[in-house]
Amino acid sequence: MNEIIDTFSELAKKYLEHIDQRRVFPLKKDLDKMKALDVTLQKHVIDPLEVLRELDSFGSPATVASTGPRYFGFVTGGVLPAALGANLLAGVWDQNAGIEASSPISSYIEKICQKWLVDILKFPLEIGVGFVSGATMANFTCLASARYALLKKRGWDVQRKGLTGAPRINVIVGEEVHVSVLKALNMLGLGSEQVIQVPADDQGRMIAEKIPIITEPTIICTQAGNVNTGSFDPIKEICDKARSSDAWVHVDGAFGLWALASSRFSSLTKGLEKADSWGTDAHKWLNVPYDSGIAFVRHQSHLLASMSTDAAYLVSGKKREPHRTVPEISRRARGLEIWAALRSLGKEGLVDLIEANCDAASLFADTLREAGFEVLNDVVLNQILVSFGDSKTTKTIIQKIQEDGTCWCGGTKWQGHTAMRISISSWKTSLKDIEKSAEMMIRIAEEEVKK
Ligand SMILES: Cc1ncc(COP(=O)(O)O)c(C=O)c1O
Repeated sequence: MNEIIDTFSELAKKYLEHIDQRRVFPLKKDLDKMKALDVTLQKHVIDPLEVLRELDSFGSPATVASTGPRYFGFVTGGVLPAALGANLLAGVWDQNAGIEASSPISSYIEKICQKWLVDILKFPLEIGVGFVSGATMANFTCLASARYALLKKRGWDVQRKGLTGAPRINVIVGEEVHVSVLKALNMLGLGSEQVIQVPADDQGRMIAEKIPIITEPTIICTQAGNVNTGSFDPIKEICDKARSSDAWVHVDGAFGLWALASSRFSSLTKGLEKADSWGTDAHKWLNVPYDSGIAFVRHQSHLLASMSTDAAYLVSGKKREPHRTVPEISRRARGLEIWAALRSLGKEGLVDLIEANCDAASLFADTLREAGFEVLNDVVLNQILVSFGDSKTTKTIIQKIQEDGTCWCGGTKWQGHTAMRISISSWKTSLKDIEKSAEMMIRIAEEEVKK
């Protein structure tokens, strides 16, 4: 084992040494190297060192440098050193975090994370928390709790009776709902015909006045942080409206929920605490390695009831069994990285990370605007949408920016306009990285526009 750890350490150092300087997206010749891994599987055993070196030689050059400072695609967090260290230790420990008896340490660390998160996000103390693989599963877990609670209130135990013949649940979402919410609803048997889409404004915020009168059991899915614009639904107004009936309000806060850590964003986050459940990612703005998301449910009993599994061999008494809080039973100890990230950042470090990314986004947007390009959204958080003119020109410029390799941004369609998305979510991104990337973008865009 020592040899494999030493070799790994040598390869990891070599990989990370140049991550800030190397091109962000690999060249075709580097991608072609992956093909060397596709061998006919041999009969005999191979030395593990050889396996690791092979993976490094042909795999490492083909990676996207998303842990470097200039990856602005999708919403992708970097990896904090402490979180990376914890991830590696978690690999060495190889704990099954699903069962207290199989890993007291991961179960204990999850409880500490729960306490810290509740404090940072100012959530109720008695909340239920589950550590899942990402925001999609966090949304799924929360919405399963919602389905359970709403039906239970109508005397229907969905865990026993299933959905056939159950009282109808309506679901309300904004027009700009993230697809992961629709996917989660689908997996829960809440099909698209049960989903009412409420119009959104030019920033993608659900228009609260357009929410229909709520009569049947209803789940309202709100959004804290639109994946394109970063905007927040008016969650306070929506929660107030929901309280006049007994609708369940869920918040998809895959990245935006972390804005709760900073008082600077209080106008955006107003009323968030009034919701019934919240889903977020840790692999986005908390900058822990993939994969890591967190589900929060106001009443722990709803989470536990909807995720319950029982088998005599799995249970070790009255303790909080981790597998009773999430869809999976066996899983890795992803609480370790969350613990390490929070422990290393502290409350102030987390605020600094969020605020620095948002400052960087404002600078980026101002620089592009000053150069004459259109920023389509109000830059309220860490997301920027840029148009370089008509759809064809914008698409061509996005492609050229991607080919250049200084940074990486993806494209999108925003309310009829083709746009480039810039998402700033990494502790590594400095203002120098913004200047360098903006300079390259402006050069490419000006050359293209002149043609
Ligand atoms: C608002 C929102 N919700 C949900 C998700 C899904 O997150 P994940 O891919 O981590 O499951 C994303 C991803 O970008 C998102 O931005």
